[in-house]
Amino acid sequence: MTMRSVPATVYRFTRLLHGGDYNPDQWLHRPDILREDLRMMPLANCNVMSVGIFAWTALEPEEGVFTFDWLDRTMDDLAARDIQVLLATPSGARPTWMAAKYPEVLRVGPNRVRNLYGVRHNHCYTSPVYRDKVRLINARLAERYGKHPALLLWHVSNEYGGECHCPLCQEAFRLWLRRRYGDDLQRVNEAWNTSFWSHTYTTWEQIESPAPHGETLVHGHNLDWKRFVTDQTVDFMCHEIEPLRQGAPGVPVTTNFMGDYPGLNYWKLAPHLDVISWDSYPNWHMGPVGYTPLNSALDGAQPLWPDRLEAHWGLFVAFLHNLNRSLRGGQPFLLMESTPSVTNWQPVSTLKRPGMHRLSSLQAVAHGSDSVMYFQWRKSRGASEKFHGAVVDHVGHEHTRVFRDVAELGRDLRRLTPVAGSATPVEVAVVFDWENRWALEDAKGPRNDGEKRYLGTCISHAAPFWTRGIPFDVIDMDQDLSRYKLVIAPMLYLLRPGVADRLEAFVKAGGVVVATYLSGWVDENDLCFLGGFPGPLRRVLGLWSEEIDALAIGKTNAVRFGPGNPMGLSGEYPAHIFCDLIHAEGAETLAAYAKDFYAGRPAVTVNAFGKGRAYYHAARMGERFLDDFYAVLANDLKLVRALPVDLPAGVTAQRRSDGERDFIFVMNFNEQPQRVDLPPDGAFTDMMTGEAVSGALTLETFGVRVIQGKASQ
Ligand code: GLA
Ligand code: ZN
Repeated sequence: MTMRSVPATVYRFTRLLHGGDYNPDQWLHRPDILREDLRMMPLANCNVMSVGIFAWTALEPEEGVFTFDWLDRTMDDLAARDIQVLLATPSGARPTWMAAKYPEVLRVGPNRVRNLYGVRHNHCYTSPVYRDKVRLINARLAERYGKHPALLLWHVSNEYGGECHCPLCQEAFRLWLRRRYGDDLQRVNEAWNTSFWSHTYTTWEQIESPAPHGETLVHGHNLDWKRFVTDQTVDFMCHEIEPLRQGAPGVPVTTNFMGDYPGLNYWKLAPHLDVISWDSYPNWHMGPVGYTPLNSALDGAQPLWPDRLEAHWGLFVAFLHNLNRSLRGGQPFLLMESTPSVTNWQPVSTLKRPGMHRLSSLQAVAHGSDSVMYFQWRKSRGASEKFHGAVVDHVGHEHTRVFRDVAELGRDLRRLTPVAGSATPVEVAVVFDWENRWALEDAKGPRNDGEKRYLGTCISHAAPFWTRGIPFDVIDMDQDLSRYKLVIAPMLYLLRPGVADRLEAFVKAGGVVVATYLSGWVDENDLCFLGGFPGPLRRVLGLWSEEIDALAIGKTNAVRFGPGNPMGLSGEYPAHIFCDLIHAEGAETLAAYAKDFYAGRPAVTVNAFGKGRAYYHAARMGERFLDDFYAVLANDLKLVRALPVDLPAGVTAQRRSDGERDFIFVMNFNEQPQRVDLPPDGAFTDMMTGEAVSGALTLETFGVRVIQGKASQ
């Protein structure tokens, strides 16, 4: 079991980092190009580079033969230009010689077929040979570069992901199960409810990972396999980190995450890293509004901003930035990768419109990133990423729109140096929990048409805060709640032990919780709670959910707020997708269903519990409802906004603070200029120009203004 805690040591950067993935190993035969890189990096105002990410063969061309000369030169050359290095371990892709000699390093698919050599990330996290090779090369890197003046941070591997089903992994899975269930097979059978369809295991050896031609339908089994994959990846990652910590004590370690990547529970990786970093590739300007994750959660309901595509993406990315900031208790994170122009793997490679590069980049900083970094510095000449955006294009010089955008951003980041290391004061948390997501997505019913939409729903609940410039964290269900005023936990279907107690304690002490339909259905083994849903949440929510009605797309009910309800809401809101049929058991009914055989039954309730309150949304009601509902709570709870003014649609403000100064980022995600009226009593300075600002703040299309003021909290 990995530990779970807010880190004891908090690593802080003293300047904002600007740079990207740099692969000199692809250009060793072109010293002229390497010289050009060094000439242009300062022109792009870059101060960091991630080096060596897929350079294993360049570092170890034959087993046990190491060639560090090129990396020595790179490190020295970069240091001479005050460019620091995020030095990678090369485990993200392995040399051909290794796979040829030791086939066990290659991954086996769920169908039990071993992959051929190819692509990347194609390795077994269990293989002793692979682990050995990784330990060796990492130890060499630590020994050689641990004290190099250019070294800033270890960039461990690259985007850990995937899973392996080889015999070694099967054995490791069984061992993991033995540990989890105290070596008691009977406990596994109970946890997985294997008496269903006569699946009872009688020896440990009978247990296999889920397989398309084998077991797929035992939910507890699927859940434990996913947990194992995370734990095995953590174990491998720690194995990678060990020689780095030993050989280069004090050098911080990160690995780059992939946002909402479903395959790994990032909360389990986070405690082992010093710094969180992630790779962000929003589909700016691409596709219709309905394509965005938030809008897809609307399921046909009226979108809040039907014509504001970029605002939808802005909110989506904001949610993920906040998740990454929350992973280590609010510590600044790094934007490790983003594209300076386009990707080449999204459906359409739409160019960033003028202003978007700056907006997209500064948005990360606004939400707690201490860097803006790119994939990649220079385009590869061949293979699958040769058309992926880069700071330096195939043309080879700096006279391009993209290069100019990057260089300007580097200047902006320099002006924002005081922001580095600053924190984000937060009073609201949205619970988005990986295990809950796994269980919810695996559940058969109450609808199987893809409309459960856990992530999209969590984002919909966060939208009202983003639009008001109220910062929010994104946490899993095990985090400390006491520092929040408001905790929103949509569709908390699975509850790990102790979670309901902690939510109760939070509300008792004065906290406010919002829960929804599809909560408290199963325990940590994906076994249904007996005695009535929402299981252990029944007391704090003050209700019993007897049945749930799933409505086909296009069918709606309505939720009606009666006169005099304490929230002061009125009228009707459409309800769709899920309508939970609940009985109030102490909770007060704020709104009731308007139609069908359950007309008049409670649809929105609040339960006074101790000093706090617990709200329940029995139905999915779309964004207009969420916006009105959370406006009332934000007001009641006096939630602090980054700027205490009303913001136009598609404009948000985010605040970072060093305790003395507030750094407020006002961002316009609209295709039209906007203006924001600053509070009359505030005294602000524009951080880009150093000039005082008052009255109206004008924002160009996709414009960002960063203003500094006295800390407000
Ligand atoms: C990921 C990888 C990079 C590169 C980019 C392309 O984030 O980490 O190596 O492939 O995608 O967008
Ligand atoms: Zn394996």
